[in-house]
Amino acid sequence: MPSGAAISMAQSPTGGHSVALPGRAWHPRGVTAVDDSLDVRLLLDLESVVEAELSRHLAMHKPWNPHDYVPWDEGRNFAFLGGEDWSPEQQRYSQAARSSLFVNLLTEDNLPSYHHEIAGMFGRDGAWGTWVGRWTAEENRHAVAIRDYLVVTRAVDPVALEEARMVHMTEGFHAVHPGLLHGVAYVSFQELATRVSHRNTGAATGDPLAEQLFQRIALDENLHMLFYRNVFNAALEHSPDSAMRAITETVRDFAMPGNGIEGFGRKSMEIAVAGIYDLRQHIDEVLMPVLRYWRIFERNDFGPEGELARQELATFLEGLQVQATRFDDRREAMALRLGWTD
Ligand SMILES: [Fe+2]
Ligand SMILES: [Fe+2]
Repeated sequence: MPSGAAISMAQSPTGGHSVALPGRAWHPRGVTAVDDSLDVRLLLDLESVVEAELSRHLAMHKPWNPHDYVPWDEGRNFAFLGGEDWSPEQQRYSQAARSSLFVNLLTEDNLPSYHHEIAGMFGRDGAWGTWVGRWTAEENRHAVAIRDYLVVTRAVDPVALEEARMVHMTEGFHAVHPGLLHGVAYVSFQELATRVSHRNTGAATGDPLAEQLFQRIALDENLHMLFYRNVFNAALEHSPDSAMRAITETVRDFAMPGNGIEGFGRKSMEIAVAGIYDLRQHIDEVLMPVLRYWRIFERNDFGPEGELARQELATFLEGLQVQATRFDDRREAMALRLGWTD
């Protein structure tokens, strides 16, 4: 799940919603009543689906080594070992690309918190527990690879990165809504958002080596998305109304896990203006493909509660479209405001 830049519906230049406030106060625990008995039933009833998805994942995932992707011959010591410390003229890429690299790495760094959340939801037993371990190991590889790459190439300020990591990890990550359905719905969207964000971050560097690394990571994120999306699909069959409610609340309150990073507001604006991750992409490349796969607007198995939640989602998406168009219209003006002249 982790990683990815740049969109908090509350904070982003594309947003303007009054939901999902960033920081410690933004997870209204208890807002959604958790049906613990439903969570237990889902864990039991979907175990075989998780087992099948885990097998599919393991068959599709190609092993890779983070060190293979790092140009070690560009590295040198810092002053502590007699070399030279980082200075701004050593940085690489555009401001937006650097902001995105920064946010994406810090988000991957925050894995202990995500592990805590996921392990709390899924438990450590059976296929669910095996997935928790496997997924955590794969995600850690992302942070290892990106950190090594950025420190060796000096593309971003390593001291600023380390200071921000300390703050970000100390704060940790807290799910907006508790409960298994909300959790799996969230990571279904979030893994895909991360895939898009990593892929576009690599492309934004214009550097074939960085692009190669981020494409490799994006492939992992896509497989993670498939796992969660498919498990949630089974949950939709199992408990359509509760699952639909979880989707609506998750889409409505969606915030990237990195939204607690210091300076995230400006960074997310840079990332959005540069087209690395903006609201239009969030709708077209993240929300809609997943909603289409779940056949949300074609299903006929909802009761009154599911219907209501589906209608709320449709209304929310219409509003999001309007905001995305408004943002597209303002993109140039915002680039000027950021001081970008070309
Ligand atoms: Fe992931
Ligand atoms: Fe990741």
